[in-house]
Amino acid sequence: MNNLESFSAPKITVIGTGYLGATHAICMAIMGFDVLGFDVDHHKIDQLRAGKVPFYEPGLPEKLREALASGRLKFTTNLDDVAEFGDVHFICVGTPQAPNSSAANLSYVESAFSGLAARIRRKALLVGKSTVPIGTAERLTAMVADISPLGAELELAWNPEFLREGFAVQDTLHPDRLVFGVTSPWAEEMLRRAFKPLLDDGTPLIVADLATAELVKVAANSFLATKISFINAMAEVCEATSADVSLLAAALSLDDRIGGRFLKPGLGFGGGCLPKDIRAFKHRAEELGVGQAVSFLGEVDSINNRRRVRTVDLVRELAGGSLAGVKIAALGAAFKPNSDDVRDAPALDVARMLYLEGATVSVYDPEANANAHRLYPDLNYVGSLAAAVEQADVVALLTEWEEFRAADPDDLGALVHHRRIVDGRHALDPERYTSRGWEYRALGRPYQPSTVAHRSPVAHRGPVAHQRQPL
Ligand code: UGA
Repeated sequence: MNNLESFSAPKITVIGTGYLGATHAICMAIMGFDVLGFDVDHHKIDQLRAGKVPFYEPGLPEKLREALASGRLKFTTNLDDVAEFGDVHFICVGTPQAPNSSAANLSYVESAFSGLAARIRRKALLVGKSTVPIGTAERLTAMVADISPLGAELELAWNPEFLREGFAVQDTLHPDRLVFGVTSPWAEEMLRRAFKPLLDDGTPLIVADLATAELVKVAANSFLATKISFINAMAEVCEATSADVSLLAAALSLDDRIGGRFLKPGLGFGGGCLPKDIRAFKHRAEELGVGQAVSFLGEVDSINNRRRVRTVDLVRELAGGSLAGVKIAALGAAFKPNSDDVRDAPALDVARMLYLEGATVSVYDPEANANAHRLYPDLNYVGSLAAAVEQADVVALLTEWEEFRAADPDDLGALVHHRRIVDGRHALDPERYTSRGWEYRALGRPYQPSTVAHRSPVAHRGPVAHQRQPL
């Protein structure tokens, strides 16, 4: 992909080297572009220069080393260098949820755009990749024209990113689609050049206005969140009957119009994107006077949060009605497997709630223990699956890492105090566990007792004997 001599390839800069920016910078260099990555965080830049990716992302460290070795990828903490270097500047800084509000915090985006606008001295394109409320790009266009010595010559475009953590390299080098939000033929041409290798590969392209490009991103994440909450709402209905949501999902997914992806029931969605994006979208729609159109997103959020509470209920029920003094193995802390990201992680939230009800919780995640410890230092983190389940009264599978799926029920059974498991991610074969003497529970599925004789029956919910102070 890296023979770009035949056309005038723009020089690329990437502002912000988090999950999105670091991946984008590395992959653009792999595609053959000269790239300069920027971050205000010196430590992050030192790590990247040394060939170390500051977060866990399978396949990315190898690509970083390959890109550095090619000589096409450099990093800096000096914004003047960035302004000097680039023809196309990709702004990839975070837009986290604002404190005490459901709106997005746009301060990093604003300072990236204004910082570049004040420094750039030649015609260039500023491209927003961050997820922003509709109307932000238009507002930033006016701000940039105001600040820049070039006035309207410094153009702005929006190019939303759809990569998933855990598949970041694959999604960046082989995206499902590209979306360009532009206001001039020149901006479109610059983006076509910046993505020439992907367009030559046949990647579908949608060229749109700025607002549509912004909306594609939040609409996509809202749809995915809604699909997950839909099947989890069905799980709630299943719980009130003897129906099984796993079978329901399997049957629904065979309808091509519905499809099975993002229809996996369980503990629900978390991470740095889906939860905050649906909240910010709802907030923005209310500001625009169309709150009613997306009011269902509030319900999507509530269904999702109820799954966490219900998982705690299942653990408590298996423990005999109270969590006080009960030893729980919490398997997983990351918001999904193949990630060390614990932002709004359902797994960690459940571990915290169990702890607050008085349980002794041992958390083990193959990659996310350190990040989880920073967020909730009061929980007990252990370095292996075996250490987590040692003498456990209940095992709670909260993030479906392959290590947990592949574990042998007899090996685990030899370590625990009671063979009781809550499968928060529908990741295990229940029969494999119940036939080895385990009591098995999963959201939206009927209780499955051990099929081996003489196991104690499940107890019903009882009063909570002991509550800790919130963390
Ligand atoms: C999500 C989107 O999938 C990406 O397209 C988007 O670019 C990204 O947000 C973003 O906005 O940056 P990501 O947050 O990496 O990507 O994670 P997903 O793979 O979408 O999973 C989100 C959550 O949904 C996880 O907690 C996962 O466990 C949960 N999930 C997913 C389910 O509970 N059930 C499912 O069937 C699928």
